[in-house]
Amino acid sequence: MKELLLVGVGSMGRPYLDAALRMGCSVRAVESRAGAPNLPAGTRAEFHLVDHALDESWLLGALRAAGRGAPDGVVGFAETHVTAAALLQDRFGLPGPSLQAAVISRNKGLQRMVCAAAGVGQPGFLLAPTLADAREWAAEHLPVVVKPLTLGGSLGVEQLSTAEALEDALGRRGGDRLLVEQAVEGPEFSWEAVVRDGAVLFENTTAKETTAPPYFVELTHRCGHRFDDPRTADAVSGFTRGVLAAIGMRTGLVHLEFRLGPQGPALMEVAVRTPGDYLAEAICLSYGFDLYEAVVRLALDLPLDGLLRPGPSRYAAVHYPRCPPGRITGISGLAEIAAHPFVVRISVDRGVGDSVAPMRSSSQRIGHAVVVAPTVEAREETLEFVRSRLRITTAG
Ligand SMILES: Nc1ncnc2c1ncn2[C@@H]1O[C@H](COP(=O)(O)OP(=O)(O)OP(=O)(O)O)[C@@H](O)[C@H]1O
Ligand SMILES: [Mg+2]
Repeated sequence: MKELLLVGVGSMGRPYLDAALRMGCSVRAVESRAGAPNLPAGTRAEFHLVDHALDESWLLGALRAAGRGAPDGVVGFAETHVTAAALLQDRFGLPGPSLQAAVISRNKGLQRMVCAAAGVGQPGFLLAPTLADAREWAAEHLPVVVKPLTLGGSLGVEQLSTAEALEDALGRRGGDRLLVEQAVEGPEFSWEAVVRDGAVLFENTTAKETTAPPYFVELTHRCGHRFDDPRTADAVSGFTRGVLAAIGMRTGLVHLEFRLGPQGPALMEVAVRTPGDYLAEAICLSYGFDLYEAVVRLALDLPLDGLLRPGPSRYAAVHYPRCPPGRITGISGLAEIAAHPFVVRISVDRGVGDSVAPMRSSSQRIGHAVVVAPTVEAREETLEFVRSRLRITTAG
């Protein structure tokens, strides 16, 4: 029986656990104490708890879980699991993205450096010890985007469009170590791929809508995007392969974000992990196969046996509703939306009386909807239905 070590479970990792158990594997899983109450009871999995959801804590848990013998495969799915999973894969000679891809995935500065050396499309950038040290370069390259090296969810990402905005940011964040980049104008996409030994076995492009500058919080993801212009499609294909080569990607799931700028695709960031924002679920819905099982198979060095599907058979989207900041006075339309045949799920995580802050990062979003429709047009109609029927009113 194959043994899988799963670094982190939570709700995002649960489908990996389910897939592995369904495949008849035995599973050792590492989970944080905070996540422990949500672990499934009565499974064959063995759970190891860690005190904090930190890269380092996950490593201790994973090493302890591996203490009674090397597993046959290791899967780490979220940002803070990547390093621990890669260290174990490296130690035991198991399939994985590679230690270098994992290290690069965790640091946007390293991503810029390897892509610069490889000539991969990306914004002009400067990484200096502090933002204050980058003042002159930033002033000459406005508008710029400043971002922390290792955070996610758009936390701390800020576009500075004017000299005044730059001075203001220097006052607030001048001592911080921030990557400074030229702002790329153009539509944004992500690309999700199943990769084995550096070769792309499956790929999906997701078109994105975000809030306007300065904070760029992701609002809508549409899977199964196709570039109609063959030159653009070729450029994107070459670009994505270039990023994989630049980071030294070997085996697993990759999620990268890019904008189509005036000079072609420009990398925003790349990660060797499961995409967030329910994108993995949206991919399963769009293409009709279990992406999680594919990842478990890769990790265990098992054949994929025709599991993957090259093109979408349906079109899924994930949408995050918005409302004006203030105290919520009313929420309506949920039942009607949930009853729509192309709505998989609608959930609003706030109630009447809760306050809604101006949106600056993904964690401030107030709910989400997942939809899947037989055609692109039907998906757009469904998204419009969700947008128009969900009413969240606020005051103050
Ligand atoms: N150089 C840039 N030019 C234009 N837009 C940018 C640039 N850098 C970042 N952005 C915008 O800001 C968003 C967040 O940036 P980035 O992906 O680097 O941060 P993040 O915190 O990892 O985000 P998330 O976890 O939400 O994907 C991007 O998706 C993009 O919309
Ligand atoms: Mg991002």
